[in-house]
Amino acid sequence: MTETLSITEGGNKEDTYRALLPQIEAVIAGTDDLIANLANVAAILKQAFGFHWVGFYRTTGPGMLTLGPFQGPLACVFIPFGKGVCGTAAQDRKTVLVPDVETFPGHIACSSLSKSEIVVPLVHRGQTQLILDIDSAEPDGFDAADQTWLEKIVALIARQHFCT
Ligand code: SME
Repeated sequence: MTETLSITEGGNKEDTYRALLPQIEAVIAGTDDLIANLANVAAILKQAFGFHWVGFYRTTGPGMLTLGPFQGPLACVFIPFGKGVCGTAAQDRKTVLVPDVETFPGHIACSSLSKSEIVVPLVHRGQTQLILDIDSAEPDGFDAADQTWLEKIVALIARQHFCT
């Protein structure tokens, strides 16, 4: 398999996402193993953008998220729906973009280096199945373009693993 590119060089963020999307689609088409695919998506995003933390939490019981594949520092294992940025996105079933984590009530600080965060839920049949969580060490590290492209990436995972 071709190694994932370091395509941030010379291109802008949207160009990078645009180039990554078909790569991610091709990579995850290679297996029906969800964990393997989440691990590779986390690796691809970490390598391409150098985010502080990239990973997934999966819904593992009623109203409970459990840590899944990730790249970055140690993270908390369980997050109830409604708690923190992840639990809020899971409960509300929509993306939460936090420019400054200090201002988000109930933010769960897994790493003191995280300054901003975006969480995109994968919703299937009205339920949050998993969430993609990305932390930046920079304040205001995410914008509407990140949201758009990360939602496309999560939609690819949904199509591969949750559409029957
Ligand atoms: N900050 C998240 C917790 C998960 S870590 O960032 C990996 C939150 O508030 O839900």
